[in-house]
Amino acid sequence: MIKNTEFQRDLISALSQAQKHISPKYFYDAKGSALFDQICDLPEYYPTRTELSILEKHAPEIAAHIGSNAELIELGAGSLTKVRYLLREMKSPISFLPMDISGEHLNAAVAELKREYPALDVQPIVADYTKDWLLPKLSPQAKRRIAFFPGSTIGNFSPVEAQAFFANCVQHLPSGALLLGVDLLKEPRVIHQAYNDAQGVTAAFNLNLLTRANDEANADFKLDQFSHWAFYNAPLKRIEMHLVSLKKQEITIADQSFVMDEGETLHTENSHKFSIDGIQQLAASQGLQAGPVWTDAQKWFGLLWFNIPA
Ligand code: AVJ
Repeated sequence: MIKNTEFQRDLISALSQAQKHISPKYFYDAKGSALFDQICDLPEYYPTRTELSILEKHAPEIAAHIGSNAELIELGAGSLTKVRYLLREMKSPISFLPMDISGEHLNAAVAELKREYPALDVQPIVADYTKDWLLPKLSPQAKRRIAFFPGSTIGNFSPVEAQAFFANCVQHLPSGALLLGVDLLKEPRVIHQAYNDAQGVTAAFNLNLLTRANDEANADFKLDQFSHWAFYNAPLKRIEMHLVSLKKQEITIADQSFVMDEGETLHTENSHKFSIDGIQQLAASQGLQAGPVWTDAQKWFGLLWFNIPA
């Protein structure tokens, strides 16, 4: 089925560049979202496990910072596992607005959450938060709006895009706060393994982008002629994921054809790693005020609180 014209346009412009590059948001069709959930359970993929352990330990204190009668938004909500730790501890939450780009995946997760919290007002928002936040007006009963952006998804943004994200927070959450999950700098070997798992789930996740392009954007990528490549770029403090063309080949998208050389890559994702200081400074450049930081014993992952001015 050919439905995703924005995807098709972005693919065509990606393949027209010298270094081919496509946004990682296109990973998350229903299949990609399910593969990402599988990644989160991998022994090598430490971020999810570590962030959950921090939430488990500090949720009561974090909920105290959120305060009573708050409206909670989750950006890139996915499977809604992490937010349960907060909802459990929050005092009389007014509503919960999970936002995700994958509607199918989000609606299934919301149906289950509603069964668990029948009294909670849950309003799923299917949207691309890298563009519009599409938030309804703050409910009159709610004191303020708190955004939860876990998983170090902020790592997908370039520093300039991260600044734009923080500017959006300032615009949409006046007198509110942001609870941000960030993957912290550490030994590259540990990071490398998290994106090169033994079972090949990350490879399947990366390659699924080509399957989706064939299904939705009228492309003809030959899946067996590409391979997953992920490495830590130390000077830029980020994991880069690429799809490597295994031979010189032609790719057609709609009516346009492109050539990829042997060894040429389509860059599919950056996943930046941060120092606490570095991310706080980036946020401060847009007016966010750094608050408490919760982390694990190894300091592998951080949950950072930011207050947003009125
Ligand atoms: C969802 C963007 C946080 O960068 O670690 C996992 C996505 N990519 N394995 C990450 C991902 C490959 C993940 N984020």
